[in-house]
Amino acid sequence: NANELVTGPANSAETDAAGTTPNGSGGPPDGPVLSVLPDAAVVLEDGEVAAVGSSDELTREYPIDNADEALDASGKCVLPGFVDPHTHAVFAGDRSDEFEAKLRGTSYQEILADGGGILRTVRAVREASEDELTDSLLERLDTMLAAGTTTLEIKSGYGLDTETELKLLAAIGRADERHPIDIVATFMGAHAVPDDTDAEEYTTSVIEDQFPAVEQQGVAEFCDVFCEADVFSANQSREILEAGTDHGLTPKLHIDEFENLGGSKVAAAVSAASADHLLQSTPDDIDTLLEADVTPVLLPGTAFGLGGEYPDLEPYRERNAIPALGSDFNPNCYAKRQGFTATLACVGMGLTPGEALRGITDRAAAAINRFDGTGTLEVGTPADVVVLEAPSYRHLPYRYDERVVGSVLKDGEVVSE
Ligand code: NIG
Ligand code: FE
Repeated sequence: NANELVTGPANSAETDAAGTTPNGSGGPPDGPVLSVLPDAAVVLEDGEVAAVGSSDELTREYPIDNADEALDASGKCVLPGFVDPHTHAVFAGDRSDEFEAKLRGTSYQEILADGGGILRTVRAVREASEDELTDSLLERLDTMLAAGTTTLEIKSGYGLDTETELKLLAAIGRADERHPIDIVATFMGAHAVPDDTDAEEYTTSVIEDQFPAVEQQGVAEFCDVFCEADVFSANQSREILEAGTDHGLTPKLHIDEFENLGGSKVAAAVSAASADHLLQSTPDDIDTLLEADVTPVLLPGTAFGLGGEYPDLEPYRERNAIPALGSDFNPNCYAKRQGFTATLACVGMGLTPGEALRGITDRAAAAINRFDGTGTLEVGTPADVVVLEAPSYRHLPYRYDERVVGSVLKDGEVVSE
């Protein structure tokens, strides 16, 4: 008997592709964005949701005595499992001193240009064994699962050569087999330019050497590129992602994090599943993405860590769109909990708690092309469930330094409590 049960978008029949029900006001939506049932229950069977509805009715229809297991959620709130559509969770090494360097005024790009940042993690990953990478990843996954993440995208990209990229993807694959979290693998050989080559030459080697190897091993679903000043140009990004498509991978992009290179047009041209960061995107860029059905992904944890300049929500509101939200967990943004991402989206960007919850559930699922109802709890959707130790979904972003997530279920099984 949950005090509240969140099933997903409000009036899902009328929800448009951008993820929200139109209100045309430009400010926070007038109507609800979530469908919330009071005093409700959910029945899980064979890894799927079999029924949702009022507790009274469902306990009559499905007597508790007949159930293999029953969870009492009295006074609590039940939510769809969280989806994290953007992480770099497999890495080695320690970059905590860069946290201090940034506080002393060195910029992220200066650190990278000096051989630090991503390039430093690359050196540590090349030294690490596949076992070490898998074990440290599994430990991080435990933390994420306990915080409610049941579906997670992870990028390679700290190898920057065929052998090491494959090692990272193998660690991701092994962790997926061994851990309850559903993992979606993204190949990101185009994450940075190794210091012994240049962007043009490296672009060629990603296209000619890395993609064929990744396709041959069948170890990734998406490909991604860091389209940014001094990393990959818009043209190089497009070439890389078109090659990725030829090798059976669905494109994603990092765009407009520090400089706007026109990446939204590339995202539209290659029919990317998502375009992520968007800190310097213009309202026209957001139009370009939404018209091409590219899901915008905002990463407020990164914006927080880089000094707290958050993207403006206005272009999304005017277009009745709810962005997806990712943690971007990586050595530069050491934050794994999607509840905290939601907090930052609320406090930093002004999303309502309901919009933020959509950002880490069904909208995040759209960013990784999961259209089977992942991120919602309706009949037939995956039985991935979070029980909050709190009466309402608002407590998730509200109580930002507490462990407010209680039991977590994946495919109908309790996997964390
Ligand atoms: O999404 N911006 C590029 N890639 C990551 C950061 C990776 C790193 O600094 O190790 C991001 O923020
Ligand atoms: Fe990233």
